[in-house]
This record gives sequence, structure tokens and C-alpha cells, in this order.
Amino acid sequence: MDISGIRKEYTRGGLSRCDIPPDPLALFGKWLTEAVGTEQIAEPTAMVVGTVSADCRPSLRTVLLKELREGKFVFFTNYESRKGRQLADNPHIALSFMWYPLERQIHIEGTAERLPAEESDAYFRSRPLGSRIGSTVSPQSRTITGRSELLRAYEEMRDEVEATGKPVERPAHWGGIEVTPLRIEFWQGRENRLHDRILYTLQADGSWRIERLAP
Ligand SMILES: Cc1cc2nc3c(=O)[nH]c(=O)nc-3n(C[C@H](O)[C@H](O)[C@H](O)COP(=O)(O)O)c2cc1C
Repeated sequence: MDISGIRKEYTRGGLSRCDIPPDPLALFGKWLTEAVGTEQIAEPTAMVVGTVSADCRPSLRTVLLKELREGKFVFFTNYESRKGRQLADNPHIALSFMWYPLERQIHIEGTAERLPAEESDAYFRSRPLGSRIGSTVSPQSRTITGRSELLRAYEEMRDEVEATGKPVERPAHWGGIEVTPLRIEFWQGRENRLHDRILYTLQADGSWRIERLAP
């Protein structure tokens, strides 16, 4: 298959001065609402998360954005996973939303920290029982002998919970990460590869510098 000839013109929209509010979170909220509103995007809250190890090697994976909290982007994960361990060593993080049907991309760079425990507890309690048990028994990112090991741990815990009625509380290894954005770039595809790129950079006084970048 020759993929070199696959080409698409981007014509769905544009970002002109009047579309650019002083606060990038307002624009993020607008685009997120539009992404959730279109039925063409299977997982509109999915974002690719980039972390960097202590020896400066980058890695990526997809997670789901669960909340925008006081201007911070929140997702939930296993703190002992590969990403969790990398973030403990190096809090610099990058997030990427790619909404192909809208010809839009948003790149966010910032710093990550753990969500306060009470807030992780509250979110954990809101999850279905199966997900709570799953994230308790899964040693995310570690090698396991096979799927049966995981299923055995899941069934053991589920049976115990059913027999005792014990609540499944959040394990210490699982919780929220909140990302404070320092740089947010909005990309809207345009004709002839002359795409719109609007970059917001956080300033020392808390305001955002706004620049247009060449595509
Ligand atoms: C659509 C999608 C959503 C996902 N959501 C999450 C999530 O919210 N949290 C999470 O820890 N992993 C999520 N994953 C799994 C991660 O991509 C990844 O496999 C896992 O977190 C382990 O990553 P790590 O070994 O780099 O730490 C999701 C995967 C996909 C494809």
C-alpha cells in the first residue's frame, strides 16, 4: 500500500482574532464541548500524555481527561505505573488532544502533581464496582504471568467484597494527577497546509501571552 499519496485538505474552520479569548481555558472548554457534541469522535476526552524518565527518555500513552479543576487538567491512573514513576522523578508533562473529524489539535505542556487524596477518594467512589476492583488488583505496567493471574486476583477480591459487604476504598497506588498548564497551543487545519496555530504562554503575572505560529 502506498501511503505517501494520502492527502486531505482541511476546510472545516479557522481561528481568527475574534475567536481568541484572553484565557485559553475558555477556548479549550469551547472546543471540548464541540468535540463531545459531535458524534464522529469516539473518545473526545482521550488525550495522549507524554512523560520523561529521569534519564530524559520520553514516552507516551492515552488516558481520559476526567475534570478541569481550577484551570488544571485532571486524569486518574496508577501512581506506580511507568508514567506514575516517571512523574514522581520528573513532573514535566505534555498532553495532546487530536480531534480529527474537527481538524483540530490541542497541545498542552505543564507540570503534574497528585490530586489531593480526598478528591481522588471521591472520584474513586463514583466509579463502578468492577472498575474499582480492577484498578485495585492491577499492578499497572508490571509484567504478569498471564491474564489468568489478573482474573484470579479480580475474582478473589470481588468474592470477598460480596461475602463481607466491605466497601472498596481507593488503594494508595491509584489516584488523580492534575496538570497545571504553562503552554497551550490550538491548531486548526486550513487549506493548502496554511493551518492556524495559536499559542498561549503563561506569564509571571498570571496572564497569558498570545502568539500566532507559522504552520
Ligand atoms: C482510550 C484509552 C483510554 C485510557 N484511559 C486511561 C486512563 O484514564 N488512565 C490510565 O491509567 N490508563 C488509561 N489507558 C491505558 C493507558 O494508555 C496505558 O496503557 C496505561 O495507563 C499504562 O501506561 P504506562 O505503562 O505508560 O504508565 C487508556 C487507554 C486508552 C486507549
